[in-house]
Amino acid sequence: MKVLGIAGSPRRGGNTDLLLAELLKGAASQGAEVKTIVLNNLKISPCQHCDACMKTGNCRIPDDMQMIYKELEAADIIVLASPVQFMGPTAQMKAMIDRCQALWSRKYVLKKPPLGEEKKRKGFFISIGGTRFANIFEPSIAIVKTLFKVIDVTYAGDLLFKGIDEKGAITKHSDALQQAFLAGQKLAAK
Ligand SMILES: Cc1cc2nc3c(=O)[nH]c(=O)nc-3n(C[C@H](O)[C@H](O)[C@H](O)COP(=O)(O)O)c2cc1C
Repeated sequence: MKVLGIAGSPRRGGNTDLLLAELLKGAASQGAEVKTIVLNNLKISPCQHCDACMKTGNCRIPDDMQMIYKELEAADIIVLASPVQFMGPTAQMKAMIDRCQALWSRKYVLKKPPLGEEKKRKGFFISIGGTRFANIFEPSIAIVKTLFKVIDVTYAGDLLFKGIDEKGAITKHSDALQQAFLAGQKLAAK
């Protein structure tokens, strides 16, 4: 069982990072092989809508997204973690998601499985917003659900916390980290 965590925050050791790490610990406690990709450390160009992927099913941009396609293919469970920025996921996360247009082309244009080998994959979403405004997670959830649908990944749940702003403030929440650990355990349970 391979669990891939994709960290979308620019803030290393920030709130979504801490939750993601805890979730992955929970998954590892069930024997899963876990891996984290930190998008902010990578070069991922925005999609150029060149439509090359419509012919080949692959993106022609030679950057770090090429590695991520392989990691997505290898994963059984994909966990996306991104704080809310201007009511959506971070630019780092959105760039990665938009580049999955190549997987959309594989599926809908070329009629091939979007992630190669067909297996039951699960997806999970972690997000945090600094405010307590209504509906702050709705745009991100819609985007993440769309991605998971396109790549044939079942949306298995999410962990969403409002009103958490300062770096590390999630550690002061009564049980957020424990919830993340338990979510990881549950996701990876056979
Ligand atoms: C550029 C930027 C935009 C943000 N926009 C929002 C927003 O629209 N709504 C909100 O509730 N919080 C917003 N925040 C606050 C972050 O969601 C919050 O600080 C969060 O805890 C950061 O998580 P991290 O430590 O994982 O990066 C924004 C922060 C930044 C830097």
